[in-house]
Amino acid sequence: MEITKICCIGAGYVGGPTMAVIAQKCPHIQVTVVDLNEQRIKDWNDPNTDNIPIYEPGLSEIVAEARGRNLFFSTEVEKAIDEAQVIFISVNTPTKTYGKGKGMAADLKYIELCARQIAKVAKQNKIVVEKSTLPVRTAEAIKSILDNTGNGVQFQILSNPEFLAEGTAITDLLNPDRILIGGDTTPDGEEAINALVNVYANWVSKDKILTTNVWSSELSKLTANAFLAQRISSINAMSELCEKTGADVNEVAKAIGMDSRIGPKFLKASVGFGGSCFQKDILNLVYIAKTYGLNEVADYWEQVIIMNDHQKRRFSSKIVQTLYNTVADKKITFLGWAFKKDTNDTRESAAIYVADDLINEQAKISVYDPKVSKNKMLSDLDYLETRSAEKNLEALTILNDPYEACKNAHAIAVLTEWDEFTTYDWKRIYDSMHKPAFVFDGRNILDAKKLESIGFVYNGIGS
Ligand code: UDX
Ligand code: ADP
Repeated sequence: MEITKICCIGAGYVGGPTMAVIAQKCPHIQVTVVDLNEQRIKDWNDPNTDNIPIYEPGLSEIVAEARGRNLFFSTEVEKAIDEAQVIFISVNTPTKTYGKGKGMAADLKYIELCARQIAKVAKQNKIVVEKSTLPVRTAEAIKSILDNTGNGVQFQILSNPEFLAEGTAITDLLNPDRILIGGDTTPDGEEAINALVNVYANWVSKDKILTTNVWSSELSKLTANAFLAQRISSINAMSELCEKTGADVNEVAKAIGMDSRIGPKFLKASVGFGGSCFQKDILNLVYIAKTYGLNEVADYWEQVIIMNDHQKRRFSSKIVQTLYNTVADKKITFLGWAFKKDTNDTRESAAIYVADDLINEQAKISVYDPKVSKNKMLSDLDYLETRSAEKNLEALTILNDPYEACKNAHAIAVLTEWDEFTTYDWKRIYDSMHKPAFVFDGRNILDAKKLESIGFVYNGIGS
């Protein structure tokens, strides 16, 4: 089966970049990305590709190359489904905020809506690909909906989880460590798997394309994210011990990372991990384990989240304690609001929780982030429902200039590891602040010795 038309439902952080790269690498395939959100599609179609809704290094150039040639963004969901042989589902699967599994299970309502829409529209056989991170055995549910509400056509469900990390999505997509495709072990299932393998084989060597059964593929994605997050919680746990004992967590991370069995990546102590995947996927894993009565398995993984929450809270507490146990009416400047550098995504960013804690202590927070909009920051805080939107607006000031943001501050807190923070004129910042001038480096990116020689009181993580 030769694929010539692909539809992707969901023009978000996963669907947008993934489809842009498929379109760039496969000029013979027409790729249409659809979304219910009209504004989002309008932004993807902005004549100036610098204004596309997702900031990701290298993405706007690829969109400029492929858009209008074989890459299209549209709100005509049904038309795109009807025309495509392959439909990727890349819609959001947030943690449930209601009912059974509240706060733990993934909310599959958007996935189910997609499945029902595909079933209604499809008049020819289709391959449906799960791209979003989903709980194990979701494919079964999708298949059941498609087979029971469809027009008698055949559907093959594949799981093809995305391993891209935001901020490096384009290089991850162009040079993936592996592509994982799970499908049915029947002749029709294998034909569908091969069709998708051939799409990726346009730029990924076949030895990097793994094929498995559907359930292994779904579980591998959750497992990969749980292992990565576990490394961060493990090093963050050691960071607290380092602070008590006089060890330096950066030195410890380097020493253990040189053991080839451990490896150096994902050992950077921080104010805590954020992002749309880690917490959601682990909660989901915990929920699945509990559902099967595997309480020890559930408790084991839950500790990764407990440690991460502790690390965020510990950071805000340290600011309060160091500032003589009161931050009431003091100006604290946040450098960074995104959950990591090189993205405008703020989902589960540590900055949101640290700000919320400090506002509870009546601090005035001033924020500079190179890519996150003012409205996004305010809506992130409002979403927590700790206080009214008016009160959040009073407590949070957002500035476009880092020097303005730091002026008259009692303390600066680095929440995101944006490279530009290391290149600032720190003497100028120091001169404009209240004394003693405190820096809380939640990412260990600043030069502690240099800042101390200027006069700052420097606090990093784990030293
Ligand atoms: C993650 C996975 O890496 C990716 O494979 C999956 O597809 C989606 O989830 P992402 O959340 O985009 O990607 O970014 P990642 O680089 O994993 O960072 C997640 C969080 O961990 C960020 O807040 C980051 O700052 C933090 N982090 C990462 C650390 O605190 N220390 C580290 O050593 C690495
Ligand atoms: P991710 O990080 O998984 O890509 P996002 O929230 O960035 O998540 O993107 C998911 C996108 O899916 C959103 O733009 C949302 O509007 C879209 N979406 C959700 N449900 C549907 C649906 N039934 N049809 C079309 N688009 C949908």
